[in-house]
Amino acid sequence: MGFKVAVVGATGNVGREMLNILDEREFPADEVVAIASRRSQGTEVSYGDATLKVKALEHYDFSDVDICLMSAGGAVSKEWSPKIAAQGAIVIDNSSAWRYDADVPLIVPEVNADAVAGFRKKNIIANPNCSTAQLVVALKPLHDHARIKRVVVATYQSVSGAGKDAMEELFSQTKAVYQIDQIEPKKFTKRIAFNVIPHIDVFMEDGYTKEEWKMMAETKKILDPKIKLTATCVRVPVFVSHSEAVNIEFEQPITADEARDILRQAPGCLVIDKRENGGYVTPYEAAGEDATYISRIREDATVENGLQMWVVSDNLRKGAALNAVQIAECLVNRKLIEAKRKAA
Ligand SMILES: NC(=O)c1ccc[n+]([C@@H]2O[C@H](COP(=O)([O-])OP(=O)(O)OC[C@H]3O[C@@H](n4cnc5c(N)ncnc54)[C@H](OP(=O)(O)O)[C@@H]3O)[C@@H](O)[C@H]2O)c1
Repeated sequence: MGFKVAVVGATGNVGREMLNILDEREFPADEVVAIASRRSQGTEVSYGDATLKVKALEHYDFSDVDICLMSAGGAVSKEWSPKIAAQGAIVIDNSSAWRYDADVPLIVPEVNADAVAGFRKKNIIANPNCSTAQLVVALKPLHDHARIKRVVVATYQSVSGAGKDAMEELFSQTKAVYQIDQIEPKKFTKRIAFNVIPHIDVFMEDGYTKEEWKMMAETKKILDPKIKLTATCVRVPVFVSHSEAVNIEFEQPITADEARDILRQAPGCLVIDKRENGGYVTPYEAAGEDATYISRIREDATVENGLQMWVVSDNLRKGAALNAVQIAECLVNRKLIEAKRKAA
């Protein structure tokens, strides 16, 4: 007997990708249910060759669900994840609602899979922010080799990271530019078409944005609390995949060649780094792919033991849906859960 999996937020960017990935990776599910808000009740979403009718969250009984992949935003998760978990389903949540809770493991399987064992305290496991997930996949193998002291990162984040309405906004604004129509920002604070916006999530008292703070707090929780990190998070007019310019200062010496070799062996990483025209990965090429791509690896001579690199990954996959399904696979492969119907 396989598992019963519920996808909450199944009509959204991340939810749809979760359904694709569960099917692609042949997750051992006997039954998959698609759940969203009342607005979407009765609409259809694809799961492999099957079509699932969307059910409304507020009426759904989770008592026979084994795993709930949750991607319906922070407010919905705050209210619903504990209720779903209380019915015995393990919630793997994509929002920021639970990431900083000491009783909730925050997991990137390539980096800290062992920490997943702590999930029983709340029956909730958190998925990191999309920009953190790809960053820690690239940092972990380098940290193991030469201990990271400090990271300075600038992100170039696609609009899909802000949901399906944000993608529509880039599309309609781009059309409006060509048709010389009026442009009205809705989801974004300024025009996003043919522009970049150095502001993601809300401002904090110290001048950083919450998105920047998340990268710092989550890198510490997942990888090492001793690592110092400062970030500038920028929204760019790209539909899918986030890019990051990453500067790293290590405790011990490490050359660009060593880093390239280490990253070539590392789980989840793919090094594309030729010092010639086009010898690097751009977000367009990473869309639809699972890997975290690393290019432009070079030594930074302005600090002791410094490296600079370019990291790109599909934010809807490694940054969200793929990572969540990998966490579910961890639970299954490590025999940390058993299908309720089998147990009954
Ligand atoms: N996009 C990324 O790269 C990324 C990465 C990491 C984490 N996340 C997080 O994942 C979550 C989803 O992001 P997204 O990009 O998929 O957003 P999205 O495209 O806007 O989709 C939101 C989903 O949530 C559902 N929803 C909204 N309110 C609901 C309610 N009251 N009850 C039940 N379902 C409700 C929506 O259903 P309806 O269609 O019925 O409204 C839709 O299925 C967010 O917390 C986001 O921060 C996103």
